[in-house]
Amino acid sequence: MALEFTRLGPHMGIAAEGVDLATPPDTTTAGELRRALLDGLVLCIRGRPLPPDAYVAAMAPFGTPRPQLGLHRRHPERAEIMILSSEDRDELGDGGRIVVGAAWHTDDSFMALPCSLTILHGIEVPESGGDTQFVNMYAAYEALPDAMQRRLTGVRVVHRYDSSRKGNRVGTRSAEEVARTPDVDHPIVRTHPETGRKALYLNPNRMEQVVGMDRAESDQLLDQLIAHATEPRFQYRHKWHRGDVLIWDNRCTMHKANADYPEGSRRVMHRIIVEGTRPV
Ligand code: SIN
Repeated sequence: MALEFTRLGPHMGIAAEGVDLATPPDTTTAGELRRALLDGLVLCIRGRPLPPDAYVAAMAPFGTPRPQLGLHRRHPERAEIMILSSEDRDELGDGGRIVVGAAWHTDDSFMALPCSLTILHGIEVPESGGDTQFVNMYAAYEALPDAMQRRLTGVRVVHRYDSSRKGNRVGTRSAEEVARTPDVDHPIVRTHPETGRKALYLNPNRMEQVVGMDRAESDQLLDQLIAHATEPRFQYRHKWHRGDVLIWDNRCTMHKANADYPEGSRRVMHRIIVEGTRPV
């Protein structure tokens, strides 16, 4: 079957069919998939669940995977894979339920070099619920009034793993993980290194405060921008099929996981994140 692309939503999202990831894509196919991702921001490759080695090998054309920091969620066979599960608990804390990514965010913005892409592979998916929602941050930036675009020029925001503004519970981290991730600051508008387009760079879960602004003014600006960027007109909602490989570009999107599936349903994802560059 030939490689075929279908648009998934009006604002973003492309599905690829006709590629079997059991063997890594050839150079031509890999190039087409990378272009589709830059165009669609979220790329779904339909397929079946892959063994860990095959999954990591098939994703190599998308960049260098970064070993997962949190040791307790690392896949036992491949350090590049983090297991996200409906059974996740705060193992280093009080044992309470953890839903990774349940509030709007972009991955890893608490790091100086946040990952460029995230790849999620649906190993077990619930019959209903458990969608992942996305917003297009190019479109959100472009829809801002000129005066707001000018106001944001040069503005930087402090990002912190355990931000006081975060919208969901985060797992307790080891002292080593905490020491490895001091606060960082990033521009609030970033230019995508491959497309050259400007995107709002927000992370409601990790942003602490606008640099040089008092707390009340900073909160007001961040709340206003988050409300704007998460409007339905910028969204795509992904309904999972078992075996989907979903790749998204953290440099121009935000996303959130929905834990609205029935009690007892299982949702297991294998996640890979890809090295990125300093946001500018
Ligand atoms: C994530 O935020 O990385 C996970 C998203 C999901 O599980 O849908």
